[in-house]
Amino acid sequence: MQPLTLALDPCMAAEKWLFPILSLAFVSLILFLSAISGFTASSSLLPAAADLRRGPNNPASFAFYLSGSRGDAHRLLRLLLAVYHPRNRYLLHLSWDAPASERAYLSSAARAAIPAIRAFGNVDVLGRGDAMTYMGSSVLAATLHAASVMLRLDGEWDWFVTLNAADYPLVTPDDLIHVFSSVPRDLNFIDHTSDLGWKESHRVQPIVVDPGIYLARRTQIFHATVKRKTPDAFKFFTGSPWVILSRSFLEYCIVGWDNLPRTLLMYFTNVPLPQEGYFHSVLCNAPEFQNKTVNNDLRYMAWDNPPQMEPHLLNVTDFDEMSKSGVPFARQFKKDDPVLDMIDETILDRSYYRPVPGAWCSGKRRWWTDPCSQWKDVNIVKPSRWVENFGKVMKKLVDDWNSDLDSCK
Ligand SMILES: *[C@@H]1O[C@H](CO)[C@@H](O)[C@H](O)[C@H]1NC(C)=O
Ligand SMILES: *[C@@H]1O[C@H](CO)[C@@H](O)[C@H](O)[C@H]1NC(C)=O
Repeated sequence: MQPLTLALDPCMAAEKWLFPILSLAFVSLILFLSAISGFTASSSLLPAAADLRRGPNNPASFAFYLSGSRGDAHRLLRLLLAVYHPRNRYLLHLSWDAPASERAYLSSAARAAIPAIRAFGNVDVLGRGDAMTYMGSSVLAATLHAASVMLRLDGEWDWFVTLNAADYPLVTPDDLIHVFSSVPRDLNFIDHTSDLGWKESHRVQPIVVDPGIYLARRTQIFHATVKRKTPDAFKFFTGSPWVILSRSFLEYCIVGWDNLPRTLLMYFTNVPLPQEGYFHSVLCNAPEFQNKTVNNDLRYMAWDNPPQMEPHLLNVTDFDEMSKSGVPFARQFKKDDPVLDMIDETILDRSYYRPVPGAWCSGKRRWWTDPCSQWKDVNIVKPSRWVENFGKVMKKLVDDWNSDLDSCK
């Protein structure tokens, strides 16, 4: 059995025991419920990772990077349940400010709530959190760290998806796999533009330093008093930080021999909000990837007028528009907002502390048993009645990409 927590740093903080005690009752309850639901009796007979078929002629598979900070364990667990499928790989990251006990809780609660994790070993919690300074380069470093860990753990996924504790899916994992299965596996979904506008003087030219990179105690980023010129050795692209990137592109960034990803990384270290420009600029300046780029991040967001730093918090009044949008993910939500229950009930068909019951779940559905405590073929997905809008959105995006309408412009 694979270790669930990548113990990169076994040292634990003094507050070690506070969180587990609070969570112990909950975890025991879940363990008890899953025990009576019968997985313990039959899990050795259930299909395991060996039966998983991935690669070009099989349904798509994703590497999900779910990140949050101190106090986000419950939200990450809920998000994990909403996006879980045995075909995919998951890496959960709580930034360095979260106590080790919160990571331990997250890994035991995930295991207790999803029996399939034991058989597929496809969920890991990063054992030591990275710094995630607001607006600083440590956020980008953390994303690259996650991508390289996921390349190391598993070489078979097709797309790397970044999600945050404030995000939630608007489609079932089966629908996501179904729709992406007909998309060329080397496409990247990233919102981008080279039209910098006001950002040129506010986001491109200022020079900042992220202390999260070199100081043990995080503080705010430093702003230099001088500005620098807009680069002319490469074209600067900017856009949404939320991305769906192909495995081939991340291999190019992390283990490739072309130097572009490294030189741009050096440059982006001192750019404010580098996660809003790094992947965008690397993709669009690399000849072999600029034609593999779809100009969309596939996220539903609603902006205030004038826009704030973050999109506004989605609530029940946004449900209709959101559910019809045909976009697979939305942000941002308040913790346990009632609209998340609406999404669970109406779209995902998901019950409390259970994964979304996909075609892989073969158990009986009763209030006391989780249908996903037993499973059969995980290479089959069953689209839901909500899949049509998402399919249309994807078809239009791929058609636009084929006619080269707005990639890397
Ligand atoms: C990408 O598209 C541009 C414009 O259509 C074309 O000139 C270029 O040759 C393409 N590059 C590759 C690597 O296919
Ligand atoms: C939902 O959000 C909108 C926009 O932020 C706000 O005007 C509205 O009052 C909120 N509704 C509820 C029920 O919280």
